Amino acid sequence: MENLYKKWTVQGKYVIITGATSGIGLAAAKELANRGAVLGLVARNQTKANKVAAQIKSSTGDRAKVDVFMADMASQESIRSAAADILKRWPRVDILINNAGALFLSRKLTVDGLEMTWAVNHIAPFLLTTLLLDRLKESGHARVITTASHGHKKARRGIRFDDLSAERLYRIPQSLLGGANIRYGETKLANIMFTAELGRRHEGKGVTAACFDPGLVSTNFNQDNGWLARLTMAVMKMFSRTPEKGAETLVWLADSDEMNVSSGGYYKDMQIAIPSESARNMDAAKRLWTISEEQIRY
Ligand SMILES: NC(=O)c1ccc[n+]([C@@H]2O[C@H](COP(=O)([O-])OP(=O)(O)OC[C@H]3O[C@@H](n4cnc5c(N)ncnc54)[C@H](OP(=O)(O)O)[C@@H]3O)[C@@H](O)[C@H]2O)c1
Repeated sequence: MENLYKKWTVQGKYVIITGATSGIGLAAAKELANRGAVLGLVARNQTKANKVAAQIKSSTGDRAKVDVFMADMASQESIRSAAADILKRWPRVDILINNAGALFLSRKLTVDGLEMTWAVNHIAPFLLTTLLLDRLKESGHARVITTASHGHKKARRGIRFDDLSAERLYRIPQSLLGGANIRYGETKLANIMFTAELGRRHEGKGVTAACFDPGLVSTNFNQDNGWLARLTMAVMKMFSRTPEKGAETLVWLADSDEMNVSSGGYYKDMQIAIPSESARNMDAAKRLWTISEEQIRY
């Protein structure tokens, strides 16, 4: 059976990854470089990114090829500029990993007028994928992998299309299940729906889409939201996975043989998993796609 398929491996593949300066993305980048991938780190802080690139290179005995592209995921202009740079400097893109993400305790707007969590966690991957899609397709067999979360289940009512800028949502009092957490859940739900719709749209066209839940992982996540959030994360760290364990499914999705990855799927612990009912609503996924297209138009 195995001989009927050309074996897929990440060795020699051109891999763009966002959010690799810390946590899950950093652990994944190190492992992918170790397995022979050519890496492009998309980061907002040049000094930090250069340091990480040097660290990754030295961890492979200087074998790895690691490039740095600058983008703040909260700015569409910045994402467009990074994508243009990638298209100029890289002959191919085989794998795009949309991993950068954050949670904002208070409601803020981006320079584009979008609510910050929504912009960084959903619109940024949507835009970057759109801008790189043709180059991904040209490479023949490409993959788009997005870091989602079990936290999508916090968005019990699905995506609140009537409150996309989360004005009402952020008025829900802050607590573990406050508005900011539900908003974060919505954006992770959007990651799953985006993956499902991307998979549907590109079925048989050389682009495989997948997303995954890394589990609860000890990283820098949620460290900028005050002492209570830091305290909560410190307690949660006792039950958390290492970044390497959190990155395991991401690396597997990037490196596993094509036939193991069904397009549009949600994974956990290197297996297909079933997301919430809202995440399986393909009408909502189509609606989200249309709205996202409108939000990246200017
Ligand atoms: N940790 C968990 O338990 C957990 C569970 C489920 C899902 N996730 C998801 O995993 C992904 C990675 O998070 P993590 O846990 O590894 O957290 P992390 O250690 O805080 O890493 C987040 C990464 O995203 C980057 N980033 C954030 N905002 C950005 C922006 N505006 N522009 C460019 N880059 C930006 C950060 O860059 P800087 O280094 O410059 O800050 C960093 O590289 C996120 O999508 C998160 O939602 C995490």
